[in-house]
Amino acid sequence: MNNKSHSLNHLAIIMDGNGRWAKKRHLPRFVGHKHGMETIRTIALAANELGIKVLTLYAFSTENWGRPVDEVKYLMRLPIDFFDKFMPELMENNVKVNIMGFRDEIPDKTYQIMEKAMAETKDNTGMVLNFAFNYGARKEIVSASQKLAKKVKDGSLMPEDINEKVFAEELLTASLAPYDNPDLLIRTSGEERLSNFLLWQLAYSEFEFTEKLWPDFNAEDLKELVADFNNRDRRFGKI
Ligand code: IPE
Ligand code: IPE
Ligand code: MG
Repeated sequence: MNNKSHSLNHLAIIMDGNGRWAKKRHLPRFVGHKHGMETIRTIALAANELGIKVLTLYAFSTENWGRPVDEVKYLMRLPIDFFDKFMPELMENNVKVNIMGFRDEIPDKTYQIMEKAMAETKDNTGMVLNFAFNYGARKEIVSASQKLAKKVKDGSLMPEDINEKVFAEELLTASLAPYDNPDLLIRTSGEERLSNFLLWQLAYSEFEFTEKLWPDFNAEDLKELVADFNNRDRRFGKI
């Protein structure tokens, strides 16, 4: 059966190409990140309008700590700038903020502003804007395994009771259920790899890649990719 009536509930995006965008203009990399922040606003509002329930944005990976200290510092400041600037608009649009990642290593000030954004928007009932920040899928899977191992050790879980559902409940996406698995993944900038993003959750997602660099990506681009997704046939192993 050709099932094209699937809906786009969860969209995940690997926002890539900020550095190259800046380099093309002979500007320092941070300028690309600054413009990328504006794109986040544009795309979040566009996704909200498209009726998407969860928008997950890969903002900082567990591997990004390996970048030059000044760049890392700037990336740790971006959430502060972002919420300072866009919080009123997120409220107006009923957007609920979620932060998904590991607390360790994130500077207190950055962490506090993210907690504040989550607290202030917790009663909003519109789209969930989910930032993957200090996120890494392998770390997430290892951490889930540790949590399950502890439950087995203290006797509250039997090894034979571990199944896909039980496992998924220990992942960082658990709170997004029933939309914990993205329907569509977009990566900008022409790179075609996952870079340690949502390895479990993307098992049956559709992928779209675009050459556009993240600061150049706009609502029109998003709509085109979504239209393409809507024409696809998702079979989930069936025929
Ligand atoms: C994406 O842009 C933003 C982050 C990874 C934080 P990049 O900074 O990776 O830009 P390129 O890939 O170097 O162009
Ligand atoms: C992936 O982009 C991480 C984010 C978008 C936050 P990178 O630019 O860090 O990935 P690689 O190094 O090209 O794989
Ligand atoms: Mg990159």
